[in-house]
Amino acid sequence: MLFTLLIAKYYNYLLLLVPLHFKFVNDIMTKPILEKLQWRYATKKFDRNKDLSEEKLQILKESFNLTATSYGLQPLKMVVISNPELKQKLVPLTMQQAQVNDASHVLVLCTETEMNSDFIEKHFNRVEATRNTPKEILEPFEDYLKVTFSEKEPEIIKQWMSKQAYLAMGNLLTVCAMEDIDACPIEGFEPEKYDELLELDKLGLQSVLVLAVGYRAEDDFFASLAKVRRGVDDVIIEFN
Ligand SMILES: Cc1cc2nc3c(=O)[nH]c(=O)nc-3n(C[C@H](O)[C@H](O)[C@H](O)COP(=O)(O)O)c2cc1C
Repeated sequence: MLFTLLIAKYYNYLLLLVPLHFKFVNDIMTKPILEKLQWRYATKKFDRNKDLSEEKLQILKESFNLTATSYGLQPLKMVVISNPELKQKLVPLTMQQAQVNDASHVLVLCTETEMNSDFIEKHFNRVEATRNTPKEILEPFEDYLKVTFSEKEPEIIKQWMSKQAYLAMGNLLTVCAMEDIDACPIEGFEPEKYDELLELDKLGLQSVLVLAVGYRAEDDFFASLAKVRRGVDDVIIEFN
Protein backbone atom coordinates (compact mmCIF):
# COMPACT_ATOMS: atom_id res chain seq x y z
CA MET A 1 0.00 0.00 0.00
CA LEU A 2 2.75 2.42 1.05
CA PHE A 3 4.72 1.47 -2.04
CA THR A 4 1.73 2.26 -4.30
CA LEU A 5 1.27 5.64 -2.58
CA LEU A 6 4.93 6.46 -3.05
CA ILE A 7 4.79 5.52 -6.76
CA ALA A 8 1.69 7.70 -7.21
CA LYS A 9 3.32 10.63 -5.41
CA TYR A 10 6.60 10.51 -7.28
CA TYR A 11 5.21 9.26 -10.60
CA ASN A 12 6.25 12.37 -12.55
CA TYR A 13 9.80 12.18 -11.17
CA LEU A 14 10.01 8.47 -12.00
CA LEU A 15 9.06 9.25 -15.60
CA LEU A 16 12.21 11.38 -15.82
CA LEU A 17 14.23 8.18 -15.26
CA VAL A 18 12.75 6.42 -18.30
CA PRO A 19 15.24 7.84 -20.84
CA LEU A 20 18.08 6.89 -18.48
CA HIS A 21 16.67 3.37 -18.30
CA PHE A 22 16.61 3.12 -22.09
CA LYS A 23 20.15 4.43 -22.32
CA PHE A 24 21.29 1.78 -19.81
CA VAL A 25 19.52 -1.03 -21.69
CA ASN A 26 20.88 0.29 -24.98
CA ASP A 27 24.43 0.36 -23.57
CA ILE A 28 24.35 -3.20 -22.25
CA MET A 29 22.78 -4.48 -25.47
CA THR A 30 25.13 -2.78 -27.94
CA LYS A 31 28.37 -3.12 -26.03
CA PRO A 32 28.50 -6.91 -26.24
CA ILE A 33 27.81 -6.77 -29.99
CA LEU A 34 30.75 -4.43 -30.58
CA GLU A 35 32.90 -6.46 -28.20
CA LYS A 36 32.08 -9.63 -30.13
CA LEU A 37 32.94 -7.93 -33.43
CA GLN A 38 36.25 -6.78 -31.92
CA TRP A 39 36.87 -10.33 -30.68
CA ARG A 40 36.45 -11.89 -34.11
CA TYR A 41 39.32 -11.87 -36.58
CA ALA A 42 40.27 -13.74 -39.71
CA THR A 43 41.69 -16.78 -37.95
CA LYS A 44 44.95 -17.98 -39.42
CA LYS A 45 45.61 -20.94 -37.13
CA PHE A 46 42.82 -23.19 -35.93
CA ASP A 47 42.98 -25.68 -33.07
CA ARG A 48 42.83 -29.03 -34.89
CA ASN A 49 41.49 -30.76 -31.77
CA LYS A 50 38.43 -28.58 -31.29
CA ASP A 51 35.34 -29.27 -33.37
CA LEU A 52 32.07 -27.40 -33.59
CA SER A 53 29.18 -29.08 -31.84
CA GLU A 54 26.19 -30.23 -33.89
CA GLU A 55 24.21 -27.46 -32.22
CA LYS A 56 26.62 -24.73 -33.37
CA LEU A 57 26.75 -26.21 -36.84
CA GLN A 58 22.97 -26.18 -37.02
CA ILE A 59 22.98 -22.49 -36.06
CA LEU A 60 25.32 -21.76 -38.98
CA LYS A 61 23.20 -23.79 -41.41
CA GLU A 62 20.01 -22.02 -40.37
CA SER A 63 21.71 -18.60 -40.41
CA PHE A 64 22.92 -19.26 -43.93
CA ASN A 65 19.38 -20.10 -44.97
CA LEU A 66 17.98 -17.01 -43.22
CA THR A 67 20.28 -14.66 -45.13
CA ALA A 68 18.38 -11.98 -47.02
CA THR A 69 18.73 -12.30 -50.79
CA SER A 70 17.65 -10.12 -53.67
CA TYR A 71 13.98 -10.88 -54.53
CA GLY A 72 14.25 -13.61 -51.88
CA LEU A 73 15.30 -16.02 -54.63
CA GLN A 74 18.16 -17.65 -52.66
CA PRO A 75 20.35 -18.67 -55.62
CA LEU A 76 22.74 -20.27 -53.11
CA LYS A 77 23.75 -23.52 -51.48
CA MET A 78 26.39 -24.25 -48.87
CA VAL A 79 28.63 -27.30 -48.89
CA VAL A 80 29.73 -28.34 -45.39
CA ILE A 81 32.99 -30.30 -45.26
CA SER A 82 34.31 -32.06 -42.16
CA ASN A 83 35.89 -35.08 -43.86
CA PRO A 84 39.63 -34.95 -42.92
CA GLU A 85 40.94 -36.38 -46.23
CA LEU A 86 38.83 -33.98 -48.22
CA LYS A 87 39.92 -31.00 -46.10
CA GLN A 88 43.55 -31.95 -46.70
CA LYS A 89 42.98 -32.05 -50.46
CA LEU A 90 41.66 -28.48 -50.32
CA VAL A 91 44.95 -26.99 -49.06
CA PRO A 92 46.78 -26.90 -52.45
CA LEU A 93 43.59 -25.54 -54.04
CA THR A 94 43.50 -22.76 -51.43
CA MET A 95 46.92 -21.20 -51.96
CA GLN A 96 48.38 -23.51 -49.32
CA GLN A 97 46.25 -21.89 -46.60
CA ALA A 98 46.28 -24.43 -43.78
CA GLN A 99 43.01 -23.10 -42.31
CA VAL A 100 40.98 -25.37 -44.61
CA ASN A 101 42.75 -28.40 -43.18
CA ASP A 102 42.89 -27.37 -39.52
CA ALA A 103 39.44 -25.84 -39.08
CA SER A 104 36.63 -27.96 -37.73
CA HIS A 105 34.51 -27.40 -40.85
CA VAL A 106 34.99 -25.82 -44.25
CA LEU A 107 31.92 -24.10 -45.61
CA VAL A 108 31.87 -23.60 -49.37
CA LEU A 109 29.38 -20.98 -50.46
CA CYS A 110 28.05 -21.82 -53.91
CA THR A 111 25.77 -20.23 -56.45
CA GLU A 112 23.44 -21.96 -58.88
CA THR A 113 24.90 -22.41 -62.37
CA GLU A 114 21.64 -21.19 -63.85
CA MET A 115 18.76 -18.95 -62.84
CA ASN A 116 15.91 -20.08 -65.07
CA SER A 117 12.11 -19.93 -65.11
CA ASP A 118 11.85 -23.28 -63.37
CA PHE A 119 13.91 -22.01 -60.42
CA ILE A 120 11.84 -18.82 -60.18
CA GLU A 121 8.60 -20.80 -60.37
CA LYS A 122 9.66 -23.04 -57.49
CA HIS A 123 10.28 -19.94 -55.36
CA PHE A 124 6.81 -18.57 -56.03
CA ASN A 125 5.25 -21.98 -55.34
CA ARG A 126 6.92 -21.83 -51.92
CA VAL A 127 5.55 -18.32 -51.29
CA GLU A 128 2.08 -19.54 -52.25
CA ALA A 129 2.28 -22.61 -50.03
CA THR A 130 3.87 -20.82 -47.05
CA ARG A 131 1.76 -17.69 -47.00
CA ASN A 132 -1.39 -18.93 -48.68
CA THR A 133 -1.10 -16.08 -51.15
CA PRO A 134 -3.39 -16.59 -54.15
CA LYS A 135 -1.54 -17.42 -57.39
CA GLU A 136 -3.16 -14.50 -59.26
CA ILE A 137 -1.61 -12.03 -56.79
CA LEU A 138 1.87 -13.51 -57.21
CA GLU A 139 1.76 -14.11 -60.94
CA PRO A 140 2.55 -10.58 -62.24
CA PHE A 141 5.77 -10.38 -60.19
CA GLU A 142 6.70 -13.97 -61.04
CA ASP A 143 6.24 -13.27 -64.77
CA TYR A 144 8.21 -10.04 -64.45
CA LEU A 145 11.16 -11.86 -62.87
CA LYS A 146 11.06 -14.66 -65.45
CA VAL A 147 11.22 -12.10 -68.27
CA THR A 148 13.86 -9.96 -66.53
CA PHE A 149 16.20 -12.88 -65.90
CA SER A 150 15.67 -14.36 -69.40
CA GLU A 151 16.86 -11.04 -70.85
CA LYS A 152 20.02 -10.74 -68.75
CA GLU A 153 23.44 -11.88 -69.93
CA PRO A 154 24.60 -15.06 -68.11
CA GLU A 155 27.68 -13.19 -66.83
CA ILE A 156 25.49 -10.48 -65.26
CA ILE A 157 23.35 -13.14 -63.55
CA LYS A 158 26.52 -14.85 -62.33
CA GLN A 159 27.73 -11.58 -60.78
CA TRP A 160 24.32 -10.98 -59.20
CA MET A 161 24.32 -14.46 -57.65
CA SER A 162 27.86 -14.01 -56.43
CA LYS A 163 26.80 -10.82 -54.59
CA GLN A 164 24.21 -12.90 -52.73
CA ALA A 165 26.97 -15.31 -51.66
CA TYR A 166 28.97 -12.39 -50.21
CA LEU A 167 25.91 -11.33 -48.23
CA ALA A 168 25.64 -14.84 -46.80
CA MET A 169 29.31 -14.70 -45.89
CA GLY A 170 28.84 -11.39 -44.04
CA ASN A 171 25.87 -12.79 -42.20
CA LEU A 172 27.78 -15.94 -41.20
CA LEU A 173 30.78 -13.93 -39.99
CA THR A 174 28.58 -11.94 -37.63
CA VAL A 175 26.75 -15.03 -36.42
CA CYS A 176 30.08 -16.76 -35.79
CA ALA A 177 31.20 -13.79 -33.70
CA MET A 178 27.97 -13.84 -31.69
CA GLU A 179 28.30 -17.60 -31.13
CA ASP A 180 32.01 -17.49 -30.13
CA ILE A 181 32.95 -19.43 -33.24
CA ASP A 182 36.19 -18.54 -34.98
CA ALA A 183 36.18 -18.11 -38.73
CA CYS A 184 38.36 -17.22 -41.68
CA PRO A 185 36.70 -15.86 -44.80
CA ILE A 186 38.62 -17.09 -47.84
CA GLU A 187 38.64 -15.67 -51.34
CA GLY A 188 42.12 -17.01 -52.02
CA PHE A 189 41.17 -20.32 -53.59
CA GLU A 190 40.71 -21.81 -57.06
CA PRO A 191 36.96 -22.06 -57.63
CA GLU A 192 37.22 -24.27 -60.76
CA LYS A 193 39.39 -26.77 -58.89
CA TYR A 194 37.01 -26.83 -55.92
CA ASP A 195 34.14 -27.39 -58.35
CA GLU A 196 36.01 -30.28 -59.92
CA LEU A 197 37.00 -31.93 -56.64
CA LEU A 198 33.53 -31.62 -55.12
CA GLU A 199 31.82 -32.43 -58.45
CA LEU A 200 29.69 -29.35 -58.01
CA ASP A 201 28.59 -29.30 -61.66
CA LYS A 202 26.56 -32.45 -60.96
CA LEU A 203 24.66 -30.43 -58.36
CA GLY A 204 24.22 -27.48 -60.71
CA LEU A 205 26.49 -25.35 -58.52
CA GLN A 206 29.72 -23.37 -58.61
CA SER A 207 31.86 -22.31 -55.67
CA VAL A 208 32.21 -18.60 -54.89
CA LEU A 209 33.61 -18.27 -51.38
CA VAL A 210 35.06 -20.39 -48.61
CA LEU A 211 34.61 -19.98 -44.87
CA ALA A 212 36.74 -22.02 -42.48
CA VAL A 213 35.07 -22.32 -39.06
CA GLY A 214 36.20 -23.77 -35.75
CA TYR A 215 38.22 -22.55 -32.79
CA ARG A 216 41.44 -20.52 -32.77
CA ALA A 217 44.71 -22.18 -31.75
CA GLU A 218 46.09 -20.75 -28.51
CA ASP A 219 49.26 -19.70 -30.31
CA ASP A 220 47.65 -17.99 -33.30
CA PHE A 221 49.81 -14.88 -33.50
CA PHE A 222 47.07 -12.99 -35.37
CA ALA A 223 44.62 -13.27 -32.46
CA SER A 224 46.56 -10.69 -30.42
CA LEU A 225 46.95 -8.12 -33.20
CA ALA A 226 45.00 -4.90 -32.85
CA LYS A 227 42.26 -4.32 -35.41
CA VAL A 228 43.27 -2.05 -38.27
CA ARG A 229 40.33 0.05 -39.39
CA ARG A 230 39.76 3.53 -40.76
CA GLY A 231 38.26 5.86 -38.15
CA VAL A 232 34.47 5.73 -37.85
CA ASP A 233 34.45 9.49 -38.55
CA ASP A 234 36.34 8.77 -41.76
CA VAL A 235 33.91 6.18 -43.13
CA ILE A 236 30.56 7.62 -42.02
CA ILE A 237 29.05 10.57 -43.85
CA GLU A 238 26.02 12.06 -42.19
CA PHE A 239 23.42 14.41 -43.57
CA ASN A 240 21.45 15.63 -40.60
C1 LIG B 1 35.82 -11.60 -49.00
C2 LIG B 1 37.00 -11.83 -48.13
C3 LIG B 1 38.03 -12.67 -48.56
C4 LIG B 1 39.12 -12.94 -47.73
N1 LIG B 1 40.06 -13.85 -48.13
C5 LIG B 1 41.03 -14.21 -47.26
C6 LIG B 1 41.94 -15.28 -47.56
O1 LIG B 1 41.90 -15.88 -48.62
N2 LIG B 1 42.83 -15.62 -46.61
C7 LIG B 1 42.91 -14.99 -45.40
O2 LIG B 1 43.74 -15.37 -44.57
N3 LIG B 1 42.07 -13.96 -45.10
C8 LIG B 1 41.14 -13.57 -45.99
N4 LIG B 1 40.27 -12.57 -45.66
C9 LIG B 1 40.39 -11.91 -44.34
C10 LIG B 1 40.76 -10.44 -44.45
O3 LIG B 1 42.11 -10.29 -44.80
C11 LIG B 1 40.46 -9.80 -43.09
O4 LIG B 1 39.08 -9.94 -42.85
C12 LIG B 1 40.86 -8.33 -43.02
O5 LIG B 1 42.23 -8.19 -43.12
C13 LIG B 1 40.36 -7.67 -41.75
O6 LIG B 1 40.87 -8.34 -40.62
P1 LIG B 1 39.95 -9.01 -39.52
O7 LIG B 1 38.88 -9.79 -40.26
O8 LIG B 1 40.88 -9.92 -38.78
O9 LIG B 1 39.37 -7.94 -38.67
C14 LIG B 1 39.20 -12.30 -46.48
C15 LIG B 1 38.18 -11.43 -46.07
C16 LIG B 1 37.10 -11.21 -46.87
C17 LIG B 1 35.99 -10.32 -46.37
